[in-house]
Amino acid sequence: MTENADEGLRNIRYAEPHETLDYEAFRQDYVLPDWKDTRKLYRKQPVRDLGGGRLEHKHVYYSREVWEQEWEQLWSKVWLHVGHLNDIPRANSFMKVDRGPESVLIVRGEGDEVRGMYNVCQHRGARLVMQDFGSTKKFVCPFHRWEFGTSGELLKIQDRESFREDAICHNLDLPPVRTAVWRGWIFMTLDDGAPPLEEFLGADLIERASAYDFEKVLRIRDVQQEWPANWKTAHEAFVEGYHVQATHPQLYSAVNAYHAQTDLFDNGHALSIYQFMSPSPQYASRLSNELAEEHKIFLREAGIKEADFPKHWSEVPEAIIKAKKARKDYVIDYEKFSEGQLIDDWGMGVFPTTEMFLHPEGFFIQQWLPHPTDPEKCIYQVQVYAVPGIGELPSFMAVEDADLSGEKVLPRTYADPDDVDVSGPVVKQDRVLVPRVQSGIHSKGYKGGIYGDQEIRIRHFFDEYYRYVSK
Ligand code: FES
Ligand SMILES: [Fe+2]
Repeated sequence: MTENADEGLRNIRYAEPHETLDYEAFRQDYVLPDWKDTRKLYRKQPVRDLGGGRLEHKHVYYSREVWEQEWEQLWSKVWLHVGHLNDIPRANSFMKVDRGPESVLIVRGEGDEVRGMYNVCQHRGARLVMQDFGSTKKFVCPFHRWEFGTSGELLKIQDRESFREDAICHNLDLPPVRTAVWRGWIFMTLDDGAPPLEEFLGADLIERASAYDFEKVLRIRDVQQEWPANWKTAHEAFVEGYHVQATHPQLYSAVNAYHAQTDLFDNGHALSIYQFMSPSPQYASRLSNELAEEHKIFLREAGIKEADFPKHWSEVPEAIIKAKKARKDYVIDYEKFSEGQLIDDWGMGVFPTTEMFLHPEGFFIQQWLPHPTDPEKCIYQVQVYAVPGIGELPSFMAVEDADLSGEKVLPRTYADPDDVDVSGPVVKQDRVLVPRVQSGIHSKGYKGGIYGDQEIRIRHFFDEYYRYVSK
């Protein structure tokens, strides 16, 4: 661990809970209060009994054999969330998508048409494109200058006369990759036999996401960073709210992680709804009546003047909901959202590892992708998409300043793997702890994961994982 990371750990202030709650309070069948749901979106998915025993399969977090199996049997089979139509805004715009050892080009055609093709020259296998986003009329291989069109068709073999006919009689176009677009989001799959995208996503997840302005958004942040942990070790730390009290004590006044509603969908997808601006109940009694800084920030963002702030933190959620609903002539039509959606954080998990925090104003999307060669590393990707015209950017986006004109396509940034500060103080705490877990999993003194009901999404993930990956 670097010096930088040690310092990160020292800075964590642990908080002791003031109250012990009844077990009943966080059972899997917990449903957020009805008053918040004017559109009945808090309908609870059926509870799934996924067992309670220890998962004794710790080798899946470091075995090279499993990592290869995962690539062939899981990552090459499912639909993968890769971007948005606005990332490739015009005909002949393209983006390069790297997943594990594979690289794919996604090209915009006329209208909403999107084409996928492997990013590999058919001559001797050079990667054709190294740029993440761009626009071009043709792809020219840097090695010997073979040329391919934006539909993948072979356009030109340099010095063609020097090749014998039997060397070039094959189909030498770039092999296609299947893509599909759902409400602006682009997905791809390396499996031609995969079911249609909307069948993979499922009706429940599609319904819960219906109010959000997915089609409109623009990417305002895009960072990738290598993390020293298996992709599953890292992803698991982001699908349970149980660690928030110990790892992120600064959040206890602002996020009720204890009373999260967790809905488990088919095909490994899920929704975790976290109540914002409400403290976790174990800690509520340690709050003074005054507003915490987080409360004030959210009130300001809802357009409420300091003089009109409520006096007690318990009145903050309703004040924000009221202010947003009263906001007319604004770029977002808050009327189409349920009251809870105006304040809470809807964490939509798209299998395998796309975690989308949804708010009416925009989306904070994280992914933990397999490293191209190393089972004990992963690629952390964070992207923020915002609705153009929202004015000041809400603090959950963690973006200071952004160009929302749509004129330029934002490039991707690659962060130094040792820079634990790259994604703000909360992700820093996770980034520092995740490698500790990766290291501990190897120990002879550790037998495998134990999961409580607050961590049910991890069991749900493995339930789906083993539908793909053979044991
Ligand atoms: S490898 Fe691409 S032209 Fe030779
Ligand atoms: Fe965390």
